[in-house]
Amino acid sequence: MDKILVLDFGGQYDQLIARRIRSQHVFAEIRAYDRITPEEIRAAGYRGIVFTGGPNSVYAENAPRIDAAVLALGVPILGICYGHQLLAYLAGGTVAPSKEGSEYGKTALTVKPNVLFRDVPEHSVVWMSHTDAVTQPPSGFSVIASTEHCPVAALCDENRRLFGVQFHPEVTHSEYGETVLRNFLFGVCGCKADWRMDDVIEETVAQYRQKLSGKRVLLALSGGVDSAVAAALLHRAVGDDLVCVFVDHGLMRKGEGDLVEQTFSRDFGIRLIRVNAAERFLEKLKGVTEPEQKRKIIGKEFIRVFEEEAKKLGKIDVLAQGTIYPDVVESGKGDAAVIKSHHNVGGLPEQMGFSEIAEPLRTFFKDEVREIGEKLGLPKALVWRQPFPGPGLGVRVIGEITKEKVSILQEADAIFREELENADLPQQANQYFAALTDTKSVGVMGDARTYGWVLALRAVSTDDFMTAAWTRLPFDLLERVSNRITNEVPGITRVVYDITSKPPATVEWE
Ligand code: XMP
Repeated sequence: MDKILVLDFGGQYDQLIARRIRSQHVFAEIRAYDRITPEEIRAAGYRGIVFTGGPNSVYAENAPRIDAAVLALGVPILGICYGHQLLAYLAGGTVAPSKEGSEYGKTALTVKPNVLFRDVPEHSVVWMSHTDAVTQPPSGFSVIASTEHCPVAALCDENRRLFGVQFHPEVTHSEYGETVLRNFLFGVCGCKADWRMDDVIEETVAQYRQKLSGKRVLLALSGGVDSAVAAALLHRAVGDDLVCVFVDHGLMRKGEGDLVEQTFSRDFGIRLIRVNAAERFLEKLKGVTEPEQKRKIIGKEFIRVFEEEAKKLGKIDVLAQGTIYPDVVESGKGDAAVIKSHHNVGGLPEQMGFSEIAEPLRTFFKDEVREIGEKLGLPKALVWRQPFPGPGLGVRVIGEITKEKVSILQEADAIFREELENADLPQQANQYFAALTDTKSVGVMGDARTYGWVLALRAVSTDDFMTAAWTRLPFDLLERVSNRITNEVPGITRVVYDITSKPPATVEWE
């Protein structure tokens, strides 16, 4: 399998670059610039290297740089933005603050005929975001593109297969960005487009079958996408040597616990232990109203229950986890086998005596994990599950949690989700749910006065959940939801829609 190294110099688009390469069916791996040496790059046999962007100036004292020996490996390089400047700098060129100041946004680009620009018209639009620029190309390099304010918008040394582009080919605003990346992968590096999900699944299964042969494997199933897909994959590899423990804290959404049990136990025939611990969690949460304290209690109790179950199973060799690629890259841990600190479950304990960790999804992005899940036959409701906090409805029942309030919220939330999923939305909602406030309000039903809870609906549109806009849901939809909830869910007298974005609010209410 051909693979490309994405050398990360601190840019915000490193993950996107890797995704773009993988979508061309070539495997791409991100490594931090200071965690791999030219010698290791050579030994790993990469077909090509991409230097990513980054916020620094190549001349800054602590600028991220790699040994110039990387240019002499004979492995093709494509430098992007900062990576383009770094390439020029390492090869002996000059970089300086652009005379015209920063260039930002959509920019007209003019290219010269070159293998990197095959099928790219002479004039097109690219996305620029830089302050420095290459002012003097290194010797042996030629300038192959320019913009009005950036005379060296791309350069290359075709003989050594070294290329740099000041613009960002990985973003969709660059009209021919995909073509440029394809030209690099196939025209320059000679990669084969042979990274196919079906093969990857087979390879991963075979690899784990061998690696885990004769060992007992334990996996904590949370109901989330990652652990579900990891379980299905490992089950293919080791069958009954895999045991899944599903701690049901009673704070899942309506029907979710049963769906997990049905899917894994009945449909897949996986050895699944469902621990119905709802009463136990409620007991611990009695009288607790402070959100962070709720989170801590739920996380701690989760571990306690999990440990108790694990103990009952006797000696287990391997702890399996649904760690995915962004977790690995973000934690910057390279290959270290760390116990993922699931912020949802508070982190599984390191001292449980497992001799090994298995993380079959650690090379995959979220959408790839979903694709694997679909191919393995997991139900859509699990594979396309929206993000759901580990403490579950515990942080959506505002104030003290009681069994009755959880059940009211489950019903109302199910109605909202059902209506929203059946509606034609003008704007996609990435996360949507109901929260039960701790306010009671007066209502009237028939001729009688009622007094019940105020329910809040929340829907947000976001790419990364760091910031989010409240979703412009159609009024007709909101009306239908409100009618159904007040009619069908006893205990709720009033429904409100949350129109606060993040910031200043968070997505969750607690
Ligand atoms: P906030 O509320 O911080 O949420 O804007 C951002 C995203 O994180 C999820 N979230 C959590 N996930 N444990 C989790 O696993 C938590 O304690 C937790 N709190 C918030 C939230 O649902 C949203 O997707």
